[in-house]
Amino acid sequence: MEKKKYNVAVVGATGLVGGTFLKVLAEEKFPINKLVLLASEKSKGKKIMFEGKEYEVQVLDENSFDGMDLALFSAGASVSKIYAPIAESKGCLVIDNSSCFRQDADKALIVPEVNAFDADPKLGYARIIANPNCSTIQSIVPLKPLDDKYGLKRVVYTTYQAVSGSGMKGILDLEKTLRGEENTFYPYKIAETCIPEIDVALDNGYTKEEMKMVNETRKMLHRPDLKVAATCVRVPVRNSHAVSIQVELEKPFEIEDVRKLLADYEGIVVVDDLKNHKYPVAQLSNGNNLVYVGRIRRDLSCDNGLLLYTVSDNIRKGAASNAVQIAEYMDKQGWIK
Ligand SMILES: NC(=O)c1ccc[n+]([C@@H]2O[C@H](COP(=O)([O-])OP(=O)(O)OC[C@H]3O[C@@H](n4cnc5c(N)ncnc54)[C@H](OP(=O)(O)O)[C@@H]3O)[C@@H](O)[C@H]2O)c1
Repeated sequence: MEKKKYNVAVVGATGLVGGTFLKVLAEEKFPINKLVLLASEKSKGKKIMFEGKEYEVQVLDENSFDGMDLALFSAGASVSKIYAPIAESKGCLVIDNSSCFRQDADKALIVPEVNAFDADPKLGYARIIANPNCSTIQSIVPLKPLDDKYGLKRVVYTTYQAVSGSGMKGILDLEKTLRGEENTFYPYKIAETCIPEIDVALDNGYTKEEMKMVNETRKMLHRPDLKVAATCVRVPVRNSHAVSIQVELEKPFEIEDVRKLLADYEGIVVVDDLKNHKYPVAQLSNGNNLVYVGRIRRDLSCDNGLLLYTVSDNIRKGAASNAVQIAEYMDKQGWIK
């Protein structure tokens, strides 16, 4: 039987995530019949190469999704809020990178290695699938096998998030402040300090980014009461986020069993040899779709406590690659159209 090919729209195609969507779609040889690249008025007419062919960027409007099968959104929550339902109403399967729909009860939030089963149309979710927050994605991949085998009791995250997580504006502010110029995007010169503030401040003393990690972890693990807390910090690193994860497990464990469990899990590479300076670093993860896990050790401060450190490319596994992996899974199941 001939393989199905799809009409694919990329919304935010001129952005950091959008550009990486195109790279990953090409690398994965995703079956594309027609490709439409969409962005704001600012990018009208801009030319982008994809698989040796030049495409002209079109301005997003209500008719952009006519005849399309799949829409990959990465143009921010305000754009998704208006246009993702329009795309869905035109028969498109939508995979959305923004935070717009992640907590909607009628929309699935998916990391394929963790909960691909939530994409089953029988469950009755809308045809808008949300892609989780970048730091949550790289954390939940190692947490899932730990939850399955030992039971998670409590999780505490501390993130070290790269400036590419803020899009082009973040990268430009790092470059500017590295040259000694004033900051124009972050509240402080990111070249000279870590900034413990990502996304807006909430009334409970957390930032929105921190509460995304709490709520998305609970939703994907189907553990609404799981104890989770997070501190999210922007650091002067260009690309690849790091997350330190402190876990309390229900059952006792042996460190060697944990190392093997994680090393055998899909999408994880364990790099864990401290004495030889081997642990996850951005130089390993930049440009690929894997989650690197290391510094695996007992938390000496509590019973059944475990400490981990993960690093992953936030634009790839944290955004574009995870979305393409969802699309590939949907294609394999015959659920795109
Ligand atoms: N960076 C990350 O690590 C990361 C990770 C996960 C999720 N995300 C999410 O992905 C989205 C994009 O992030 P990014 O880092 O790629 O940002 P970016 O580099 O600033 O790109 C933003 C993209 O959105 C387009 N856009 C903005 N306003 C638009 C409008 N009104 N209509 C149509 N297109 C519009 C821009 O088009 P123009 O060039 O024409 O302005 C551009 O293509 C955000 O929702 C972000 O939260 C980012």
